[in-house]
Amino acid sequence: MTRVEALGYLGFRVKSLEDWEVFATEILGMTATRAAIDGEEAVVLRMDERAHRITARVGDDELDYIGWQVSGPDALDEVAAALTAAGVAYNDDAGLAEMRGVRRLLRCTDPAGYTLEFHYGATMLQEPFVSPTGARFVTTAPDGADTGLGHVVVVCDNVEETTEFYRRVLGFKVSDHIIPVPGMLLTFLHTNPRHHSLAVAPVYKDGPTGINHFMVEVDDLDVVGRALDRVHQRKIRQLASLGRHTNDKMLSFYVQSPSGFGIEYGTDGLLIDDETWSVVTYDASAYWGHTFDPA
Ligand SMILES: [Fe+2]
Repeated sequence: MTRVEALGYLGFRVKSLEDWEVFATEILGMTATRAAIDGEEAVVLRMDERAHRITARVGDDELDYIGWQVSGPDALDEVAAALTAAGVAYNDDAGLAEMRGVRRLLRCTDPAGYTLEFHYGATMLQEPFVSPTGARFVTTAPDGADTGLGHVVVVCDNVEETTEFYRRVLGFKVSDHIIPVPGMLLTFLHTNPRHHSLAVAPVYKDGPTGINHFMVEVDDLDVVGRALDRVHQRKIRQLASLGRHTNDKMLSFYVQSPSGFGIEYGTDGLLIDDETWSVVTYDASAYWGHTFDPA
């Protein structure tokens, strides 16, 4: 079975590179560099040894692409075969691979319309990652398993079809579900020990599709607390108060990114052991906290 390994990177189109640069470094604790990508100015964000985890270029404040990492050339061949077997067209784009600093890259669109980039051989930099806020981001499990940059939650108007694509074609496993409000079923999917690398949400109250939020995890509650202090000090809009999620046990808060969508900043996320895991459905997203849009 084809198996995507981890959420390798994300790309966004943003209205203000400057706002993202300040937010990512001073609130989230990532490092930022300016680069020219395909002739366009970009802000490139690091959170560990990898050369880029998040890349922002100028545009309309939206998710540009999701980079799904696989373990190597054989795994990427398997993804290509699985996409072909499922009738999904893809580009094997050497120029794009060069731009992303990976050895090979296949690009396709998922059933909900999101652009996916399957890749292996990401560039690791000799220059150590040193967070300006002292954050240490959790991108591996204690046993060394790669757990990726975090997770991404996307809103889809064809949730079942999209979920089945990730499950049957790409080898994701359902972690669990949450019904946060009656009639709304969220589906969480994992592809490594991280509880979820992807969650699929239906359109809510005629709202938009697009990214709902992405999550990054740090290894220290005090780093989360200090980030929250900075959010308050700078009067940045918080989308949910500090709280503990029911399903992945993440202790986190949600803040509005400069592009409007959410960023979850948390610690203490659950790791899954597929040998013993069983899918359940929670009737709430948090044990406590996560009050929406706190004043
Ligand atoms: Fe989340």
